[in-house]
Amino acid sequence: MTARSTGEAEGGMAARAGRLLAMARDRGVATTLNHVAAAIAVRRRPRVVRSWPRFLQFEVTSRCNMACAQCSRSTLGVPARQGHMSLTLFESLLGQFHRYQSVTLHGLGEPLLNPELPAMVKAVRARSAHVRVGFNTNGLRLTPDLARSLAEAGLDEIGVSLDAASSDTHRAVRGGGFEEIVARVRAVCASREPRPAMALALVVMEPNIGELVQFVELGKSLGVDRVSLCDLSMRWRAQGADPMAVRSLDAARQNSLEAERRAREAGLPFWYTRLDRALWPDAFIPCFYLWDYPYITWEGRLTPCCALPYAEHSLGDLRATPFRRLWNGPAYRAMRAALVSGRIPPPCANCHHASPEGPP
Ligand SMILES: C[S@@+](CC[C@H](N)C(=O)[O-])C[C@H]1O[C@@H](n2cnc3c(N)ncnc32)[C@H](O)[C@@H]1O
Ligand code: SF4
Repeated sequence: MTARSTGEAEGGMAARAGRLLAMARDRGVATTLNHVAAAIAVRRRPRVVRSWPRFLQFEVTSRCNMACAQCSRSTLGVPARQGHMSLTLFESLLGQFHRYQSVTLHGLGEPLLNPELPAMVKAVRARSAHVRVGFNTNGLRLTPDLARSLAEAGLDEIGVSLDAASSDTHRAVRGGGFEEIVARVRAVCASREPRPAMALALVVMEPNIGELVQFVELGKSLGVDRVSLCDLSMRWRAQGADPMAVRSLDAARQNSLEAERRAREAGLPFWYTRLDRALWPDAFIPCFYLWDYPYITWEGRLTPCCALPYAEHSLGDLRATPFRRLWNGPAYRAMRAALVSGRIPPPCANCHHASPEGPP
């Protein structure tokens, strides 16, 4: 969740203090102190970070059974080496971290292809009752039985990426399977009890801006717990040259505001992570990934974030060097310093989080 996501918990000093006290009671004092230190690090953006990251993202597989137009697998290319993270590696990697609050079990690939996913959820849950565990899926392999076994393992939430409210648009963006995925989400929503929570996720793109209101209505009719929208995180081509980038700016703004209004009316939680400055001139969420949200590839490499997941973006190999040494090692320190000073590191040049001006 980000500072400009609709739906963020709000409140004054007293409310914040109350939340910290509740956190200390539930998760312990050390995790709570780390939470405060990490929040300060995200705000101050030092070169050396004393806190542990609160958010972890594990690429449980780099394989995928879809080829979505907006995904880095299409814009950057499919990685040369692909595979599933093994449970053994996952457990040894997880053991290198402390005081985290959230574990995301998807990266650049389809998590339900990894048969060890339920065991990974169980491994996280065995370490803490309070860590939030979830992942996004394209939904093609989702079944009520699998959702039940993931819930029994301790999963909190499944986000199903649909990117459309119609079959034609879904085919244009994600290549097809809309009816099947919708039927699977409906079946899971009808059978779960009460976990896992279910969300529908949509990346706002030119082909789907006419369907944002319908998307909320679809979520409501399927019985999901939340609908979440997000702008494209990177701009890979010049403005106007990317067929997925939003060009009909007024329509996108109006439709997303109407979608939000409908969700409120329907009592359906709605988040929208606004990143694209062409659409939202005031939007800017400074990069927090380098300070609080590392990404770990299926092979065990540490990379800056989910948009830079390949070997060439590696900040170190966690199989060879423990995280506590890499977190403030030369590669991380140099990247943080460059970003803060405005000398945007080349891999970050296309990212909306890199500078208030946004990508060129
Ligand atoms: C990379 S996917 C991996 C998980 C799974 N395969 C899926 O599609 O949900 C994770 C999430 O990132 C979203 N995503 C893909 N490309 C994106 C982009 N360029 N900007 C923002 N989000 C993106 C997907 O729609 C999905 O919700
Ligand atoms: S967005 Fe997800 S389903 Fe689509 S290609 Fe990327 S990893 Fe695969």
